[in-house]
Amino acid sequence: MSQLKLSKDSWSSQTVFIMAAIGSAVGLGNIWKFPYITGENGGGAFVLVYLACVLLIGLPVLISEIALGRSGKANPIQGMANLARENGASKLWVLLGFNGVLAGALILSFYTVIAGWAFAYFFQSLFGVFDRITATEVGAHFDHLLANPYELIFWHTFVTVVTVLIVSRGVKSGLEKAINFMMPGLLFILLVLLGYSTTTGSFGQSFDFLFSADFSKLTWESVLVAMGHAFFTLSIGLGTMMVYGSYLSQEYSIVKASLWIAFADTAVALLAGLVIFSIVFANGLEASSGPGLLFQTLPIAFSQMTAGWFFGTLFFALVVMAALSSSISLIEPIVSWFDQNWGIKRVKAACILGFIIWFVGFGTVLSFNEWQDIHFIGERTFFESLDLITTNIMLPLGGFLMTIFVAWVMRSKEREKQIELSTNKMKLFLFVLKWISPVAVMVVFASNLVAGEIAIAMLGVAFLMYAFYAWNVSRKI
Ligand code: PFF
Repeated sequence: MSQLKLSKDSWSSQTVFIMAAIGSAVGLGNIWKFPYITGENGGGAFVLVYLACVLLIGLPVLISEIALGRSGKANPIQGMANLARENGASKLWVLLGFNGVLAGALILSFYTVIAGWAFAYFFQSLFGVFDRITATEVGAHFDHLLANPYELIFWHTFVTVVTVLIVSRGVKSGLEKAINFMMPGLLFILLVLLGYSTTTGSFGQSFDFLFSADFSKLTWESVLVAMGHAFFTLSIGLGTMMVYGSYLSQEYSIVKASLWIAFADTAVALLAGLVIFSIVFANGLEASSGPGLLFQTLPIAFSQMTAGWFFGTLFFALVVMAALSSSISLIEPIVSWFDQNWGIKRVKAACILGFIIWFVGFGTVLSFNEWQDIHFIGERTFFESLDLITTNIMLPLGGFLMTIFVAWVMRSKEREKQIELSTNKMKLFLFVLKWISPVAVMVVFASNLVAGEIAIAMLGVAFLMYAFYAWNVSRKI
């Protein structure tokens, strides 16, 4: 039997781990994506389903994923190979790692494009472009940005290069400091914006939109989107938390850390939603206006606020930082796989991967202009199709398999060593892990399978995973 390959890195403290994990979880998903998908899916009922998914699926998967990481002590692929061997399970469990690594790369390819918009807005805000701008002008400004592929590619390149630079230097030094400053800063500006939103006259309407549930607006597809988003926003199902968990030493509590991560992540999303919808309603904008929602609303707020230039510039700087602390966590599982299994050094791995991901990102750039009318899955553009396959299929599938492994495959002694809970709490946790989380994922999948296109997408993903595995099978893991 060959030796287990183990990660040599570790976090310097539990707080650092929690900060890094929160840094990964809090990102564009909270500030950009949550408000716009909530707007597209009718508001309150969608939010309620999303919160239920965070609690009943997200939190158990988060705990399981970190536990798998700490027990497997390596990147997701090697970690699953180690876990399978130590728990006497099939080597095919490495497929779970492959699914995650591929999903991470695909998500990053569109994540850097959107983070590029935030970068553009940071500089524009800095140079006063949004001073005294009207709602109509903000809309036109955003449309102009999207219509110009060269400008989008410029910002997309910028973000990819910064991500590669940070990852090549190693996660610890630069990132820890950035996160320590960023998280309180982001929260502070969101609170300032919350104060502003109470003056718009539409705060109550925004609150109602987010929290009063009208289930007649909910479709099974919205439930799939809500579930997928719970995975996306918590950074679970693809192995990010597994890698981060593999650097965590044994004495720290995974359950406590997970509760903090889920709480911080949900709080930022709800605050961002409250602020954005107040501005939407106060200015007669459409809640369902899609991916541009954040960029079409906040500049209006900043243009009307005292010291709006300062807050606007700082806000977009923080969004960019939040996005970067997430984008590096998307690439980290693959970089550590390249490093630990293939002996490819961090710098080289980050450059090769960065280039491939940058190239795939062109598809997303073009989805907003030249390829706007080209449909890939159903009526979806390239970007929307990629989002569907990764967020709504690959992540829940990965999370589903993680719960199965922890609940049914992992030896109970090891599970209890990783997830320290009193007997009764452990019973409850195992019940949720065995019967609630995986069943909920399957029910949502099955209800969407009726829409044949998702079945096709799932088959496509299964084929990709198989091809990836076949290509690798000759190599000893
Ligand atoms: N959680 C991040 C966000 O909400 O923006 C996105 C993300 C990061 C998803 C890392 C998945 C991941 F592994």
